[in-house]
Amino acid sequence: MNRCSSPWRLLPQSYCLVVFFPFLHCNGAPSRIDKCTRPNLHSQNLKVQPIFNCSSESSPSSLTRKAFPAGFVFGTATSAYQVEGAANQDGRGRSIWDSFSHRIGNIIDLSNGDITDDHYNRFKGTVNMYYPGIDHYNAVIDALLSKGIEPYVTLYHWDLPQALQDEYGGWLSENIIDDFLSFADTCFASFGDRVKHWITINEPYNFVSQGYGGFGTQAPGRCSIRVKCSEGDSKIEPYIAGHNALMAHISVVALYREKYQAQQRGSIGICLDSRWYEPLNETSMDDLEASGRALDFHLGWFLGPLVFGDYPSSMRTLVRDSLPSFQNRIPGRRVWVNGSFDFIGLNHYTTTYVQAGRPSYVSASFSSINPDGRFEVSWYADINQSPLASLDAVLNDDMRISYHQDYLSELLLSMK
Ligand SMILES: *[C@@H]1O[C@H](CO)[C@@H](O)[C@H](O)[C@H]1NC(C)=O
Ligand SMILES: *[C@@H]1O[C@H](CO)[C@@H](O)[C@H](O)[C@H]1NC(C)=O
Ligand SMILES: *[C@@H]1O[C@H](CO)[C@@H](O)[C@H](O)[C@H]1NC(C)=O
Repeated sequence: MNRCSSPWRLLPQSYCLVVFFPFLHCNGAPSRIDKCTRPNLHSQNLKVQPIFNCSSESSPSSLTRKAFPAGFVFGTATSAYQVEGAANQDGRGRSIWDSFSHRIGNIIDLSNGDITDDHYNRFKGTVNMYYPGIDHYNAVIDALLSKGIEPYVTLYHWDLPQALQDEYGGWLSENIIDDFLSFADTCFASFGDRVKHWITINEPYNFVSQGYGGFGTQAPGRCSIRVKCSEGDSKIEPYIAGHNALMAHISVVALYREKYQAQQRGSIGICLDSRWYEPLNETSMDDLEASGRALDFHLGWFLGPLVFGDYPSSMRTLVRDSLPSFQNRIPGRRVWVNGSFDFIGLNHYTTTYVQAGRPSYVSASFSSINPDGRFEVSWYADINQSPLASLDAVLNDDMRISYHQDYLSELLLSMK
């Protein structure tokens, strides 16, 4: 079986904004994973072991910006809720993250985004605030450009207006499509003269699976586990929310293409996320198939429709009636589902081993999503850093440096 049979492989490389598939090369090139220590299949302690223990082949000094082709873009990113603060100023309405972070029991240290970096106030300067949000971001975009930094703008990064959640259930309703369209229209009209890369939605997999599945660990915090969530149905809602997110994305791409693209000459895409799923026993057909399914349920869920016009067949088979239908069209709109992107962004953090027939720890509450993968996760990138640590201590971060070193090296390899 071809372990790279999922749709992402079919994308021409030029479509990929951020491609981080570090361990496998699907064209028959040697795979990095062979050089890593596999976990002992018989170990009872798989969960607490690191997944990979790879020896780095290149020293950090061998990887420089020059190693990457011309046109390869290095960037850094943040999100409004993480930096803006000013939660109650200048007419800013509440978002589902404001509500979620203020609800006791959701955030361990009781922190919230009311102030954060206070970016909104610190940046405001002397700009006239007739339309505060728009004026603010006009100033941010101008400042970036004046420093030679090209803005890539994401329209939706998890902070849905609470009013839409209250009015019709947010992403659970098709009403979201028209509201997202008018928001996007405003952004294109206000910023599109200078913004040439638009990302409609960031990591839909994460916000639907964690906002509506599992333990409801992200806003709006809906799930089937009643001790954790007062409302929700994790067998159905993630698929409905995901479907509406896809339809909203597709509709916004159509709007941009029809109304703005010819004149503004920008490109538009979506930013997905996925782990790479690696069979624990690479000679076991069952493990191979389970890892393919896991990739279908993570990346294929969103990439499948965008490339082929419908969900992966493994999802159709396993989820059945809970999975809405596309048939390549959006009801009532003259829009093809397939091909609705100029580029695909991909956030990639880590790789996970999959063992067929073993319940995944995700599946305890989410059995219809990952039917038989056993998932072991190692978040190299998410180690906790104390905010009070000194700058020297924070910069002395060998783990993160070697993480980026390794992933960028493998990314470079995969482009050759
Ligand atoms: C990783 O491999 C190195 C070299 O073989 C070894 O010294 C180290 O203990 C291993 N680390 C873990 C966490 O297994
Ligand atoms: C891996 O899978 C093969 C094929 O099913 C099987 O023969 C072998 O015993 C498995 N290895 C382990 C360590 O379970
Ligand atoms: C989308 O699907 C339609 C109908 O199958 C086809 O005619 C069209 O070429 C496809 N577009 C892309 C971009 O693949």
